[in-house]
Amino acid sequence: MEVLIKNCRIVDETKDIQGDIYIKDGRIVEYGQSIHIDCKTIDATNLVAMPSFIDMHVHFREPGYTYKEDIYTGSMAALKGGYTFVNLMANTDPVCSGMEIVEYVLGRAKELDLIDIHQTVSVTKDFDGKTLDHLHTLDERVKFISDDGKGVQSNLTMFKALLIARDRDLTVIAHEEDEEIVDIDTRLSENIMTMRDIYLSGLTGARLHLAHVSTKESIEEIRKAKKEGIRVTCEVTPHHIALYDNDYRVNPPIREREDVRALVQGIVDGTVDVIATDHAPHSEEDKEKGAPGISGLETAFSLVYTNLVKRGSISLNRLSQLMSASPGKLMGLNKGRIKKGYDGDIVLIDLDKKIIIDKESFISKGKNTPFNGVEVYGEIIATIRRGQVKYNGGVNIDNR
Ligand code: DOR
Ligand code: ZN
Repeated sequence: MEVLIKNCRIVDETKDIQGDIYIKDGRIVEYGQSIHIDCKTIDATNLVAMPSFIDMHVHFREPGYTYKEDIYTGSMAALKGGYTFVNLMANTDPVCSGMEIVEYVLGRAKELDLIDIHQTVSVTKDFDGKTLDHLHTLDERVKFISDDGKGVQSNLTMFKALLIARDRDLTVIAHEEDEEIVDIDTRLSENIMTMRDIYLSGLTGARLHLAHVSTKESIEEIRKAKKEGIRVTCEVTPHHIALYDNDYRVNPPIREREDVRALVQGIVDGTVDVIATDHAPHSEEDKEKGAPGISGLETAFSLVYTNLVKRGSISLNRLSQLMSASPGKLMGLNKGRIKKGYDGDIVLIDLDKKIIIDKESFISKGKNTPFNGVEVYGEIIATIRRGQVKYNGGVNIDNR
């Protein structure tokens, strides 16, 4: 199986050149000026080719809440957003606390053959806040553990979980929310848990990845921790960058202008490692009842591109690093760069295309977005996984 992507602007974390990309047997074999090979050809004139995106924080709701999203609709939404890899969170029903659900999800992904998936396992069994025994039964397919959606409330449990994570080479993805404090002060609730976990990570030596960081204080703590050599990484969502002073319900909440400034500064200076969507689809009814979350996969790139690159805060290279190279590296994937030997996972984008976000056009079952009607730039035209076009929004293919 061979494919040649012709006449594109090739951008990844380190390069920005004009040329072609040749993919064979699912891997990138060559890229550069005027490659001539007689095979299936994709005309990418006037388009940018980037490594497809990798999302470290996604909720597909299967098993248990498939009326909100399932692995098929979620995967299709991911492809439309330019993603070929997602990391799924464990807050399904039942909670993903062992290999049985992991195997089910990975099996389903294989059967669908649309995107690649990693399934995170809960830190505490069934989110009970204390039981950790199941962590000893996980095999090497599991790299992350998280009680995302809830957070590990007990200091002792988190301390023990980090010790196990260190010994078993797992990374803890931390949802920082103190349940007792959150009702009176959501900022303090996030900050106090962030500080606790950075301290515990330093103490234990375990890898800690902070999910959806939203406050200026947390960013500053992470900056300091990194300087001290603590093994902490973090992600920021598109909505926490694009919005402030907005009460659309999401956890953590949309913050203030000063926080957005600090997040952008963190993105500019390297404190922030990754942009992750926290794609959290909900039904209209659940949303009316107060379910927190945003359906984010299909709007992520254009929001980040419009708010950060078009405004001049970061380069397209840095965006590629945040959305592909860094998450690829953190997850140990052979993806995220346009380089010989890497998976032929490419997204073709029309950067100049103006779009009005329309929730009714979402493939995701979750139409919950605060961005409906918002004008952005950058349309995903095609998403290619290991050389196969998995989403085609209007690119010409010569099959020969
Ligand atoms: O807004 C959110 N929605 N934040 C979370 O932490 C959980 C997520 C969900 O699962 O809906
Ligand atoms: Zn989440």
